[in-house]
Amino acid sequence: TILILDFGSQYSHLITRRCREHNVYAELLPCTTQIKDVKFKPKGIILSGSPYSVYDKDSPHVDPAVFDLGVPILGICYGLQEMAWQLKGTVDKCDHREYGFAHLKITKIGSSSSVDALFDGLGDEMQVWMSHGDQLSAPPPGFHVIGVTATAPYAALAHDSKPFYGIQFHPEVTHSPRGKEVIGKFILDICGCQQHWTMEEFIGKEIARIREICGPTGRVVGAVSGGVDSTVAAKLMHEAIGDRFHAIMVDNGVLRLNEAKQVYEMLNKDLGVNLTVVDASDLFLSRLDGVEDPEQKRKIIGNTFINVFEAKAAEIEAQAEAEEAAGAAAKGRVEWLLQGTLYPDVIESISFKGPSATIKTHHNVGGLLKDMKLKLIEPLRELFKDEVRALGRLLSIPAPLVQRHPFPGPGLAIRILGQVTREQVKILQLADSIYIEEIRKAGLYDQISQAFAVLLPVRAVGVMGDARTYEQVIALRAVQTEDFMTADWYVFPPEILRRISSRITNEVPGINRVTYDISSKPPATVEWL
Ligand code: XMP
Repeated sequence: TILILDFGSQYSHLITRRCREHNVYAELLPCTTQIKDVKFKPKGIILSGSPYSVYDKDSPHVDPAVFDLGVPILGICYGLQEMAWQLKGTVDKCDHREYGFAHLKITKIGSSSSVDALFDGLGDEMQVWMSHGDQLSAPPPGFHVIGVTATAPYAALAHDSKPFYGIQFHPEVTHSPRGKEVIGKFILDICGCQQHWTMEEFIGKEIARIREICGPTGRVVGAVSGGVDSTVAAKLMHEAIGDRFHAIMVDNGVLRLNEAKQVYEMLNKDLGVNLTVVDASDLFLSRLDGVEDPEQKRKIIGNTFINVFEAKAAEIEAQAEAEEAAGAAAKGRVEWLLQGTLYPDVIESISFKGPSATIKTHHNVGGLLKDMKLKLIEPLRELFKDEVRALGRLLSIPAPLVQRHPFPGPGLAIRILGQVTREQVKILQLADSIYIEEIRKAGLYDQISQAFAVLLPVRAVGVMGDARTYEQVIALRAVQTEDFMTADWYVFPPEILRRISSRITNEVPGINRVTYDISSKPPATVEWL
């Protein structure tokens, strides 16, 4: 295991991912973690970047014990400055931030040992991505330079005798094209990690772990949405405990076209998962009646979801009790709630926070636990999305589902600006399905991170045949992103947009105009609400 100590950089989670991409398990902990509290023995430590400067009064510092552990350490950006600060080098505040591409020249000035393995075999120079304010003005004693850029004479350092390295650039971002190899050099060659982290190994271990946790009789309930995470989690539970896992799908009336039916066919008929679909669309839509505020829509949907889910879970529990009383083969009580929590959610809750604010409250089933007295089971909590997808493929989940774009919990309610009614939902469902169908036909679906239609309840004038129309507008959104924290709008070939627009205006009653959203995040968000 590689231990990544997070100083709050927006890229910290990417370091973890890059390690995992080398099939090495890596775990991220806040930089304030005391080494004596770490429950595993790391084979190497990476210190992340940070929005802070080491000289800020409240800047975070690492437990000095890391330097005495005898394991290799790599400091990235702030991590390098922190290492220098702790080991008595000199860090200067720059009067400007350096942000963007740079050319790293790999040197071995003053090298006195063989510990220059970080760039071994990677050539004499590479393009790298910089994002920093401070930089070193002198290396700490015992270190020598192994890389420079035009503006940073100490862009990469190595210790003369210990396996300590520091780099000013960010190897974890894709803008540093060879960065992943640099991380590979560190974790594989320098730390000597074995590449055992694969989904094939994960499945067997996780099924055994679930069986042990649930015991021979415990039952588990869990919500499925038709998304990748809940489908993979459900299938994994089914593999582990069969029909003692009860999946519940709540039809909230703001799902995509035919979604509840499709999920039922796939999960229950094809994959054999014990699934009940609860049609609660009337209840959701009546509670949403007249509501326009996005946060209020989220709250109503979140709370109603909890009510409906709990009622169904109670029904399953009552049935289990009745079966037990009747002396049927004891299948046990409902003791567990399955949650499809992924590692980024875990990171989000443990990572070191600089000044950050909640921009939107995201709805998930976390609220369930407070009332339900069920214990939580989270088989995916160690995994990144791409790992969940790989796991899904191994579990024979159909490829189109495994690659499916994310869909928000509050569904089409946050894609219908203004009031949510059955009529508006129908219009948006139809427009969205045409949009996605055309994207798939053009073979572009997998290049786009998320695409969807938005219904704008403004009216615009149009003409159809000889008649004037006065109807609503559809906005199309498509973005490419690595982590949904930032996103670029997708550049479609014009003929694809033309076809989509013409199909939507021809086939969706109530729409006479289609627009394409050319806003990136930031300053826009991916969703419109
Ligand atoms: P934003 O709009 O915040 O979206 O840029 C980033 C990603 O989060 C999804 N999203 C949500 N997912 N509940 C969810 O489960 C929500 O309330 C919610 N709001 C946004 C969005 O679809 C995108 O993938």
